[in-house]
Order: sequence, then structure tokens, then C-alpha cells
Amino acid sequence: MDYQSEYQKKLTTLEGVYSMFKDGDLFYAGTATAEPVTFLRHLHEMHGKLHNLTMHINLAMANVPVYDPKYADLLTVQSSFFARFLTPLQREGMATYMPTHLRNIGLDPEYRYKMMKKPVNVYVLAVSPMDKHGYFTSSSFAGYHRNWVDYADKVIVEVNESAPRTFGDTYIHISEVDAIYHSEDNKILYMPIKQPDESDIKIGKYIAEMINDGDNIQLGIGGIPTACAVELASKKDLGIHTEMFNDGLAYLCKAGAVTNHKKNYYQDKIVTTFSMGSKEVYDFIDDNPNILHLDVAYTNQPAVFSRNDKVVSVNTALQIDLMGQCASEAIGTNQISGVGGQTETAVGAKESKGGKSIIALHSTREIKQKDGTKKRISTINPVHPAGTVISLSRNDVDFVCTEYGMAALRGASLKERAKALINIAHPDYRAELEEGAKKWYLI
Ligand code: COA
Repeated sequence: MDYQSEYQKKLTTLEGVYSMFKDGDLFYAGTATAEPVTFLRHLHEMHGKLHNLTMHINLAMANVPVYDPKYADLLTVQSSFFARFLTPLQREGMATYMPTHLRNIGLDPEYRYKMMKKPVNVYVLAVSPMDKHGYFTSSSFAGYHRNWVDYADKVIVEVNESAPRTFGDTYIHISEVDAIYHSEDNKILYMPIKQPDESDIKIGKYIAEMINDGDNIQLGIGGIPTACAVELASKKDLGIHTEMFNDGLAYLCKAGAVTNHKKNYYQDKIVTTFSMGSKEVYDFIDDNPNILHLDVAYTNQPAVFSRNDKVVSVNTALQIDLMGQCASEAIGTNQISGVGGQTETAVGAKESKGGKSIIALHSTREIKQKDGTKKRISTINPVHPAGTVISLSRNDVDFVCTEYGMAALRGASLKERAKALINIAHPDYRAELEEGAKKWYLI
């Protein structure tokens, strides 16, 4: 088969791509380095020519002109992991959050077509360049990629010369593609990483005490899990089965702390469903057969996650109450991020032999007020305010860590939980928390 001539036959321009859309289409956009940035960057130019498109995107990274209420008759966005620039669009009615565990986004077609009566009209994603066998890859995101290739009416790829090429469930063959166009700048999206501060380092040290040589780790999204990796560099024979391969995990691999020898499952391999971070992450995963990007319905299935022994999951919350309920994705109904795989990885870790789920958060936050001033608040509260979205149930948190220590919750009564959490709260708020705990009959 002459894949090059097939490539030339399917090659089109951005205008050609937009002409394949019709009013009312539902399209899915790729995630992480598979986000079709060139396509999204120019989508607003279709204003007045196309109407009522709905885009599903998980974790949008590029803040493009179309995310503006003036384009609401062109596009509405549904996202299963809000970017910060989508939060204001929720208030304008242009964006809405789709509550779901990450593994359930690629719903089986039976459910999607018969129950929801919603076909996927188009799947558009950025890909790594085609190889000699006619394969592109969905770069750093396996997720539910194969579902959309199989079930979307049309599949359109944005070829990006800089997109890392990966192994696992990220493949897509030219015969499965309807149209090809090229990225206008061949740039990829990086996720900014924050340098660890004093409080991150303290949290990292507490977490490092909980992780032993030979453990299998998952580090979630956010500043703290990445910072705590630094404290794990001297560990030996760690294994990685994670949802997101990030800078912290890439750092540990380079530091020689990861061998994957002690895994029961996919021994000697790193398993993830997507990768996101800095250039270091993308250089590490590019053409690396030692790291598999596998379908999220599989990687994030708690029963699969727990097939390894001694799995330790480290995730972050925005707020927690004295019973251990975690608000990790929204403040009230104001969506800040998404649940992603937090529940799946925490439950999986807990179910693994010798495993544990850890939630790490700073004991206080500086919050911007409406008048622009900043106010310091405790992230540990007696109870959550009305309307709070609970991302992780109190039943699935084993340990909570702040810069003041580690609270053990598994097997603890409400009274023991409240006391343990007050002990790791910021000292300025402990008296207030104790009063609150009494008021709500927790202690
Ligand atoms: N009250 C109000 N706002 C708060 C808050 C609180 N208690 N805590 C944080 N925020 C705001 C911050 O001010 C910041 O707003 P800004 O962007 O306008 O400055 C925003 O929330 C994000 O906070 P930050 O601490 O920078 O987040 P992070 O990048 O460290 O990520 C989570 C933290 C909790 C948002 C992130 O870990 C998450 O989305 N978790 C759920 C998903 C998950 O764990 N998946 C698991 C596997 S990948």
C-alpha cells in the first residue's frame, strides 16, 4: 500500500476541514499534546458561517479567541476537566462541566447511541507524523482515543511535527482518517510547573516517609504531587501505574528511582493513560517503548489499578471537611478543574494489597476577593458550605497530609477523624475548627 499517496489524497487546508462540519455537530477534540490547537485557534473565523457546534474537550490547554461569549452561537463547550479560562464561560452559559470519572468518558456505543441518542459527528485531534507503516499516534493522550476513532463519523488529524510519538492505545492508521491538515507552527502545549515552596517541601517529606522502596506510585495533577517527587528521588525500585505521567514522575525516572521491577502487572513498564507537563516529559515519552499510554477505561479501572501490590496514590484537594470529604474540583458549583481520575486512583490504591490513598493539601490558601484584596482561609473546614461538590468520598481517603503532618483516616471514627484533621490544620484555625466540630457533633 502506498501510504504517501493516500496521505496526499486526504491532505487538505484548514478551510477544507471547517467545510466538513455542519450546523449542530457534536465534535470531540483531542487532549494534552493531541489538542488540535491550529483548528481551535481559527475556529472563531467560522462565526456566522457555522452555528451551534458543541465541542467536548477534556482539559483544554490553549486559551483561544473562540472562548468568548460573543461566539456562543457558534460554539458551546462541554468539558470533563475545566481549564481556568472555562470557569467564567460557565457563568455566561457558553461552557458546561460534564461530571464523570475519566474512564467513563468513552462511553460504550450501545449506551451513547441507544440511551443518549447522540452520535459523535467529528473527532479532531493533533497527531505525531505518520510512520512508514501508515500510523500516526494521538501523541501523549490515549484516554478514550480509540473509542472516538471507531465511533466518530469523521476523523480529522492535525499533523504536528513536534508531537511526541507514543506506544500503546494511541495508534491511528491513515485508513481510519478522513482528512489531514498541518499544524501552522508545530508547537506543542506545555503545562507550567511551579517551583516547590517551603510548605510543598514539608508535605513532600511527610509523603516520602509513607512510600517504601518497591512501592507502585501514582502522582496526580497539581503543584503538590509534582513537588513531592523531589523527596522520593532516593527511593529504589519504584513502579509507575498512573493516570497522568507528569514532571514529577519523569524526574523520578531520570533520578533512577523507578525500575518497575516489583510490579505484578506490566512488570518493567510504565503505564499511564496520558502525559502532560514540560519539555522534559515530552522528550522522555517520545518514541519510548518503556512507557505505555493505554486506554483509560483500562488504566483507571480500580480493579486493574489494584492488581499491583503496595500502590500509593497521591492526589490534591481544594478543601476538606472534618469527616474527610474532599472538594477537589469545584468551590461550591464554581467548577475549577475536574475529578479526572481522583476517585479511581484513590479507590484502586486502597484496594491494592498494602496500598494507601493520600490526599495532600496546604493547610491555608490566599483567596482573591471580589474587591481584588486577598484573604487567607483554612482549607480544612468543620463542614463544607452548601452546594459543595464532593469529589472523593470520606470512605476513600486513607491519609490526609498538610505541612503540619499526616492524619490517618482509614478505620477512624468521626471523632478520631475530626481530631486528627484539626491536628494538621494551621494553628491559627485550630480553636475555630474545634468549636465547629462540637457544633456539628463530630467530637
Ligand atoms: N477556595 C477557593 N479557591 C481555591 C481554593 C479554596 N480552598 N483552593 C484553591 N483555589 C483556587 C486557587 O486560588 C486557584 O485559582 P487561580 O487559578 O484563580 O489562582 C485554583 O483554585 C487552583 O489552585 P492551585 O492550588 O493552583 O491548583 P493546583 O494546580 O495545585 O491543582 C487541584 C489542585 C485540586 C485543582 C488539582 O489537583 C485537581 O484538579 N484535582 C482533582 C483531579 C485529580 O486529582 N485527578 C487525579 C489524577 S491526575
